Amino acid sequence: MDYKQYIAEKIKVEGVTQDEIYSLIALPPNTEMGDYAIPCFKFAKIFRKSPAMIAEELKAGISTDDIISEVSAVNGYLNFKINKDGFVRATLDKILSEKDAFGSSNEGAGKTVCIDYSSINIAKPFHIGHLSTTVLGGALYRIFNYLGYKAVGINHLGDYGTQFGKLISAYKRWGDKETVEKGGIRALNELYVRFHKEAEEHPEYDDEARAYFKKIEQGDEECQQLFTWFKALTLKDVQKIYDMLDIHFDSYAGESFYSDKMQPVVDELRAKNLLVESRGAQVVDLEEYGMPPCIILKSDGSSLYATRDMAAATYRKNEYDFYKCLYVVAYQQNLHFKQFFKVLELMGKDWAKDLVHVAYGMVSLEEGTMSTRKGNVVFLEDVIAKCIEKAYGVIDGKNPNLENKEDVAKKVGVGAVIFGALYNSKIKDIVFSYDKVLNFDGETSVYVQYTCARANSVLQKGGVVTEFEIPTLSAEEIELVKALSVFPETVKAAAEKYEPSFIARFAVDVAKQFNKFYFDCKILAAEDEKTKNFRLALTNATLQTLKNAFALLGIGIPDKM
Ligand code: ARG
Repeated sequence: MDYKQYIAEKIKVEGVTQDEIYSLIALPPNTEMGDYAIPCFKFAKIFRKSPAMIAEELKAGISTDDIISEVSAVNGYLNFKINKDGFVRATLDKILSEKDAFGSSNEGAGKTVCIDYSSINIAKPFHIGHLSTTVLGGALYRIFNYLGYKAVGINHLGDYGTQFGKLISAYKRWGDKETVEKGGIRALNELYVRFHKEAEEHPEYDDEARAYFKKIEQGDEECQQLFTWFKALTLKDVQKIYDMLDIHFDSYAGESFYSDKMQPVVDELRAKNLLVESRGAQVVDLEEYGMPPCIILKSDGSSLYATRDMAAATYRKNEYDFYKCLYVVAYQQNLHFKQFFKVLELMGKDWAKDLVHVAYGMVSLEEGTMSTRKGNVVFLEDVIAKCIEKAYGVIDGKNPNLENKEDVAKKVGVGAVIFGALYNSKIKDIVFSYDKVLNFDGETSVYVQYTCARANSVLQKGGVVTEFEIPTLSAEEIELVKALSVFPETVKAAAEKYEPSFIARFAVDVAKQFNKFYFDCKILAAEDEKTKNFRLALTNATLQTLKNAFALLGIGIPDKM
């Protein structure tokens, strides 16, 4: 139940809406004062009285009931105490009956949200820079589905451009089938890098590459076949990573998919008088909006990244009739999105307002953690593998007799990578540090996982309890229940602000509150049966809630650690 809402409904102030009152309701610094408080100086203009008098006046109009046990006016604040027994009962009953669905809703029923994420480039390494888009997008995909939306995951493959002509040229000159088949992305990338080096001395290679790209476009059989093969090899390689991170897509329609869908966009731009010529190129002038022109066609008539994105957005609107279309892409591309969103708006597409660039910051590796020789990219696969290896070391040190150590290390290592990218507000740049993400006592996934293992072990010994009575409650118990109770609104806010970090922080907060409870209140050795039973139910509800939260982030929870 939403207590803030309940309180807001009890307060009537002329000229102030219920939503405004709702947003004024805050959590007092300590629970002694109350569970919720309203600062009355906000109403000073309306009442023309001191906040203290306003608080008294409002207090007189509110009666206590089953839910609100006490109202007090202190220093211009109106404080509310919630009937703790009722609150605890309602929260735990909800969690224990809804189970895996606790936190979900159907508010998004009938609405589709397209999420363009990960969107890798064919034959290019899947490096640490792709981590955020992949795990942020993956989390948003699950979060929106959890709220009843239909999420459509789209991997907008970078599979168009002269670089594929270069790759064919390089393969034909130096490649062989077996090496490439075995080496996958790494082998393709080596060919590509070699091409660039050698083309410096042999500019004619570049001409050849252009010719090959043209051939791909024209559907030349051999070139098409090679290109399709490169694509398959790339996808096979990254699938390993997607499997580890629990990432799914509903569509792999990449840039080349729009080859034949751009002309209508160009035609429409022309018909609407939006295209102007600039040094031979066809552009949309955006000076009025403080942006450089959006280039639609180069002087040789070839399309650009933006052209393809406009065709893609149009296609998605027709195909999915999206409520929102999200692009989980680094902030380096801010201008690109602002430009083509604006051009679509100028074309009169009213749905342009539903396109959202979900921008995020850069991830770099802490200096010295892995060889990053110049020009040598850090493969995400290697980062994950190293994290799993380190996790294994830590687990083995702590609990050498643990069963399934490999499996646990995998959940801990992969979780650390995901959590490392999701814990901070997405726009922040992150420096990835193995020690930090694997710290058992930090604000980390392993801290949460370890807390779950602790809860699980208690339940193993005491039993998985769902029926309980309310004993005399301790402050730790109430705080823990409060922490759990905000999960549904946290999930909702995470979707609204495109911030899976809200859920990551929520999980850490719950884990901290649980550990306080665990150390201050005896569970199995509680003073009486009623208290023990209640504490087991509370432990059960905590574990359930943490599982739900972590499932949304794509992180597994080992039973034992
Ligand atoms: N492949 C692009 C890159 O790596 C990202 C594509 C993002 N999606 C989009 N519709 N532009 O930079």
